[in-house]
Amino acid sequence: MHAALDERLQAGEQAFIDQVIAGRTAQPGALLSILEAVQNHNPHNYLPMESLRYIAAKADVPLSQIYSVATFYSFFNLHPQGDNTICICRGTACHTRGSRNLLQSLRLDLGLGTEDAEDTNEADKLLLTTSDNKFTVRTVACFGQCALAPVVEVNHRICGHVNERTLQREIRNLERESE
Ligand code: FES
Repeated sequence: MHAALDERLQAGEQAFIDQVIAGRTAQPGALLSILEAVQNHNPHNYLPMESLRYIAAKADVPLSQIYSVATFYSFFNLHPQGDNTICICRGTACHTRGSRNLLQSLRLDLGLGTEDAEDTNEADKLLLTTSDNKFTVRTVACFGQCALAPVVEVNHRICGHVNERTLQREIRNLERESE
């Protein structure tokens, strides 16, 4: 089983995980910190399944336990993330102030389509990444900044009273920065 794991993970990544595990196994909360280090080391800021399998084997922790930790905490990603993350609030205050339209226009702007938009209700979390991996669009239930509704977080920066024009401007700026 280990040989199969080895084939899927690059040697450099294995060595990195070995080092991370060796430095942390005795610490309380070691698993969280191992997963955090491995995710931060990934160029697309996520935890590939082969990395989770390798961690399970090396740290001698059941894969199911690792998987439930990785899915419980929202800061862990199980899919590749874009270079930029745009997070739109779908809470009540933001919804009544037009966050749904913001989300639709952002999806269209980034070529993410809106086919499934009618099927998802406000409670559904959305996570979409453009095919060039430049942008990830996600939604959140509330940022706790309702007075600023509608609220959008652009690469961890909270922007309040956002409208379609200001959001488009943010996107164009990010595109320009990455050229
Ligand atoms: S509902 Fe959007 S910040 Fe609270």
